[in-house]
Amino acid sequence: MIFLFVSPGVIISSDIVIKCKAAVLWGLKQPFSIEEVEVAPPKACEVRIKILATGICRTDEHAISGAMTTKFPVIVGHEATGVVESIGEGVTSVKPGDKVIPLFLPQCGKCSSCINPNGNLCVKADVTGKGVLSDGTTRFTCKGKPVYHFMNTSTFSEYTVVDESSVTKIDANAPPEKVCLIGCGFSTGYGAAMKTAKVTPGSTCAVFGLGGVGLSVIMGCKSAGASRIIGIDLNKSKFEKAKAVGATECISPKDYTKPISEVLSEMTDNSVGYTFEVVGRLETMIDALASCHLSYGTSVVVGAPPSSKMLTYDPMLLFTGRTWKGCVFGGWKSKDDVPKLVSDFLAKKFDLDQLITHVLHFKDINEGFELLSQGKSIRSVILM
Ligand SMILES: NC(=O)c1ccc[n+]([C@@H]2O[C@H](COP(=O)([O-])OP(=O)(O)OC[C@H]3O[C@@H](n4cnc5c(N)ncnc54)[C@H](O)[C@@H]3O)[C@@H](O)[C@H]2O)c1
Ligand SMILES: *[C@@H]1O[C@H](CO)[C@@H](O)[C@H](O)[C@H]1NC(C)=O
Ligand SMILES: *[C@@H]1O[C@H](CO)[C@@H](O)[C@H](O)[C@H]1NC(C)=O
Ligand SMILES: [Zn+2]
Ligand SMILES: [Zn+2]
Repeated sequence: MIFLFVSPGVIISSDIVIKCKAAVLWGLKQPFSIEEVEVAPPKACEVRIKILATGICRTDEHAISGAMTTKFPVIVGHEATGVVESIGEGVTSVKPGDKVIPLFLPQCGKCSSCINPNGNLCVKADVTGKGVLSDGTTRFTCKGKPVYHFMNTSTFSEYTVVDESSVTKIDANAPPEKVCLIGCGFSTGYGAAMKTAKVTPGSTCAVFGLGGVGLSVIMGCKSAGASRIIGIDLNKSKFEKAKAVGATECISPKDYTKPISEVLSEMTDNSVGYTFEVVGRLETMIDALASCHLSYGTSVVVGAPPSSKMLTYDPMLLFTGRTWKGCVFGGWKSKDDVPKLVSDFLAKKFDLDQLITHVLHFKDINEGFELLSQGKSIRSVILM
């Protein structure tokens, strides 16, 4: 048995099973069911976290719809803030009481992606949806059945267990109901501009798709000093918010008969340095590539590619000099960079309020997913 002395008189045992509430998905396309679950103590190199706030991301919805392979029953959720409740043997980077953000993209520090300064897709990420921790088992049970993990985080639960490489300590003063967005949506978009594209001051950028991630790309372009940021969306009611976060102008492809790449070239005197695909469609991936400057342009794929679809493109698009890139989690090294992003937020380098359209209680989680599917929310944050 391991005892952790947090402060005089307080002993936290890390071998007790916690009973708490979690939103369980029993099968594909079913609503969440709030259940009492048992959360096992953290094993060696694991951390048990009390979740404080968690955002609803489109990727959670991909698990429900089947667009992303997931094992059921499952506890989804991967964009959260919490407090460490207890730690397993050998954990050194966090201790009970620390405010933390769980990391759906771990940073083990040892694999080839982690060692290379330019890589971030850690080998310990659950890319195939196996839904277990590193020893091949789960820490959740409900009604006597094992419940699977999701993206190594499972934050739609009052308590969760993660690997030490899947959690990072953040500033104790950070507001949990805001900085949870740094756990996925915000960082993905902001990093695509700042870290992956490395947008330069004075440049012109075009962002395809003005959802929560696209808005975060715009914030990144603005922080990097872009002088023109053109937002593109089929839905014109997305324009107002895009302008509020930094877009200098917005257009809808519906208003033009000619290809959007020509429209952008004419608007900018052929000077679009950076484009971002933040929709997740093959057509917009090609449109975005064709829209950046033929010689020095860079285009970044941020939208999740539709599963098992292939793309055909004219290689001349690349031959002339364009750069085509993609990124997961904005290219950030999660454990190292998330605490820095939280500090940047506290230093008011960017604003997360613009992205949060709804705040809900945990029991109303199904309502949060309805808002998402109706396109009414940018980000809904759930308070536990
Ligand atoms: N790379 C990563 O690590 C990562 C992380 C999170 C999300 N994502 C992906 O980013 C994408 C965007 O996420 P989101 O939460 O902002 O989604 P969202 O659904 O809120 O936003 C998408 C926007 O694209 C617009 N749109 C649809 N078709 C369009 C078209 N043909 N042309 C222009 N605009 C169009 C929609 O009107 C909407 O405003 C998704 O594919 C998501 O899976 C990737
Ligand atoms: C993430 O999940 C996968 C499979 O479910 C597992 O192999 C891996 O070890 C886990 N990684 C972490 C950091 O928990
Ligand atoms: C367009 O966006 C608005 C505001 O975000 C939303 O209410 C509406 O449902 C969207 N329409 C479509 C067709 O997605
Ligand atoms: Zn996400
Ligand atoms: Zn790694």
